[in-house]
Amino acid sequence: MMQQYIWLNGKFKKFEDVKVHVFTPTIQYGLGIFEGIRCYKTAKGVAVFRLSEHARRFVESAKIYKFKLGITQRQLENAVVETVRKNKIKNGYIRPFAFYDNVVMGFFYPEVQMNVSITAIEYGNYFKNKEAGIKCKVSSWQKVNSEILPPQAKVSGNYISSFLSRLDARDSGFDEAIMVSSDGHVAEGSGENVFLVKEGRLITPSKGSNFLLGITRDSVIKMAQSIGLVVEERAVHREELYTCDELFFTGTAAEITPVVDVDKRKVGSGKMGPITKMLSDKFSRTVSGEDKEFEEWLTYV
Ligand SMILES: Cc1ncc(COP(=O)(O)O)c(C=O)c1O
Repeated sequence: MMQQYIWLNGKFKKFEDVKVHVFTPTIQYGLGIFEGIRCYKTAKGVAVFRLSEHARRFVESAKIYKFKLGITQRQLENAVVETVRKNKIKNGYIRPFAFYDNVVMGFFYPEVQMNVSITAIEYGNYFKNKEAGIKCKVSSWQKVNSEILPPQAKVSGNYISSFLSRLDARDSGFDEAIMVSSDGHVAEGSGENVFLVKEGRLITPSKGSNFLLGITRDSVIKMAQSIGLVVEERAVHREELYTCDELFFTGTAAEITPVVDVDKRKVGSGKMGPITKMLSDKFSRTVSGEDKEFEEWLTYV
């Protein structure tokens, strides 16, 4: 790992010095909160993308579970900036993580304050064939309904469901899974939101569809509207994935990744479509500070 320093509860520690015991509730039961944030090189220095929205989601995730973070949204924002600066990260991925380090058996009421760490690394594409487009499988694992596990909390334990769906996709020779919930509506990928293009309109599952409200999703909706595209947020059925003209994922890790095949059905031309390309280009120009329309999304380090 390139990373030299991890921010831990207000101090920088060497990467290799941050350790926790195996017998902690975070490791045993997934009681952790995390975020994924990117930063990008711009002409005015490195900028963190939509930092306040990510920091807010981190704080809100903890609130859902009554976890005590001991850090405010603003303190977290400052700490992220410091971590990027300290490690001289240019195009990177930043991972705030709240965890318990108390050694305890069984569940406990979380009156103990969590630890907060921030790790930042240089990072490129999440999907290695991002440019060409990826192949997806509708997962045989259902997406958990929000009455069972709240998807708006980015809590570590949720990702065991993502893991199962991704494993199922990978074992069947696909790059990623798309999960459908018990009501038959498309929810999301294992760590991405889904967008379809049909007859020039942009369609994405609406809020009730059991997915994490992605910050990249929000960015794409706002960019699309500024370009003059019609954006429909509504329930999406599985078969629409087979008949749309274009399909893509959004996410901090995935950025905008075209999906060119679903369940062995070619999507549109089988290549990145023109609307995906237009949004992807605008996204790249926005995060790198060339396109100033949404410059308020950038926090310069
Ligand atoms: C389950 C899930 N859905 C969607 C997303 C995309 O969200 P964002 O664009 O905020 O990174 C993520 C990534 O954070 C995720 O983990």
